[in-house]
Amino acid sequence: MIDQHTTQSMKQTTDQQIGVKMKVSSIAKSDKADAETIWQKDKDHHLHAWSDLHAAKEEGAIILERGEGCYIYDTNGNKYLDSVGGLWCNNIGLGRADMAQAIADQVEQLSFNSTFNDLGTVKAAELAAKIAELAPGNLNRVHFTTGGSTAIDAAYRLVELYHYVRGNPSKKQFISRKDAYHGSTMVGASLGGKAGDRQSALSYLQTIHHISNPNYYRAPEGMSEAEFLDFLVQELEDKIHEVGAENVGAFFAEPILGAGGVVVPPAGYHKRTWEVCKAHDILYVSDEVVTAFGRLGHWFASEDEFGIVPDIITSAKGITSGVLPLGACIFSDDIWDVISADDSGVYFSHGVTYSGHPVCCAAALKNIEIIEREGILEHVKEVGPYFGEQLETLLDLPIVGDVRGSQLMRCVEFVEDQKTKTDFPEELNIGKLVHKHADQRGLMIRPIVNLTVMSPPLVITKEEIDFIVFALRESIIATMDELREKGLWEG
Ligand SMILES: Cc1ncc(COP(=O)(O)O)c(C=O)c1O
Repeated sequence: MIDQHTTQSMKQTTDQQIGVKMKVSSIAKSDKADAETIWQKDKDHHLHAWSDLHAAKEEGAIILERGEGCYIYDTNGNKYLDSVGGLWCNNIGLGRADMAQAIADQVEQLSFNSTFNDLGTVKAAELAAKIAELAPGNLNRVHFTTGGSTAIDAAYRLVELYHYVRGNPSKKQFISRKDAYHGSTMVGASLGGKAGDRQSALSYLQTIHHISNPNYYRAPEGMSEAEFLDFLVQELEDKIHEVGAENVGAFFAEPILGAGGVVVPPAGYHKRTWEVCKAHDILYVSDEVVTAFGRLGHWFASEDEFGIVPDIITSAKGITSGVLPLGACIFSDDIWDVISADDSGVYFSHGVTYSGHPVCCAAALKNIEIIEREGILEHVKEVGPYFGEQLETLLDLPIVGDVRGSQLMRCVEFVEDQKTKTDFPEELNIGKLVHKHADQRGLMIRPIVNLTVMSPPLVITKEEIDFIVFALRESIIATMDELREKGLWEG
């Protein structure tokens, strides 16, 4: 619980935040016309990613101007603590001069190379070797992409190629999970299992089969966690038998489901699903786009946190701390040995203009150097549990159903009724209501339907965590008041 003293100091912090907002707003008055013009340009011409089209047309967006450490500032001078870390990716903090210098140096040195032409670069070679050193087991091979979705595409292609070369060309079906998020290319979107993301206007690959989200909070009433785990493992076995083990190429899984609700699976889940895959000659693809490069206090979470060495790891985001776009599909020597032994003309017909871009690779190398030099993994292990403990104090609020996650990857789930876990009607968009109130308090959170998702920069301090939790508490209370006033909730 937040005590009187903390409440007082948190109140001051919030006032300071709002104060900053108001102060800078008034200073920025002479630029107000500019800010409005930019806002209008964005509204009229820029289609944002994952845009709610009607809302975008009606409301427009907050336009950001600059960032520093854990803070972002909009064109009206408002300051926000970015508890989202951009999009799970601002790991080392925004606006760093050392990173800017590394990028500038590489632009001067060699600002482009295409790996299509069998031409490598110093930075791509150094980065691939560094990743091989940090990755678990014999995952010593790296194909660079432009982000997470394209790393997933590369993994999908590799799986097909691997089984084809081994004489198992029918292994072209894939198993994923409901509520998984694997990106928005055709492959990524098809592997994705969030019902709300699946638009009837769009098409999806028919080669993907989804099994349950391993969220114990939503497990059938009365089922123990051990029973739930048995159920999940059996479901995977059953799905493999249904599709035919001879047809299944790979199982794709995020170590912790991210956008699908920050779901930490029951202990032992990854180990047991990995064993099932091994028994059926199915490759295990661990989608570490969010969890790699420090978010859970490790370079990679698969082995260090969950005790498995997958066949393929996909990564992006934190690899450059989001400073430049880069993804990596990291795979085992075993896969490499198989696909490189074939001399029948099979080749890796996959890659994009920017695969292994030297400037992005330079940014990634600098990012890794900073994480190492500043002991950021150790810092995450120190502040991560504190973040969890402090967020759990919110469970005394009647619409907070669950608080879950690990280290600097956390989420709060809202419910209409804590006991029955009844959801608010989806159209109420409870996450967005809380977000609106948080916004007014200088806190940037990420609403996903009935969730608030948080993944702050890895350099966040305990004081900043206190601010997040305090401002979130105030925002949830303001949301409850609003719901009561509008007759939408009677709690
Ligand atoms: C687990 C996971 N995989 C893949 C992706 C897609 O990455 P990108 O948006 O860089 O294409 C994301 C993005 O959030 C993700 O969270």
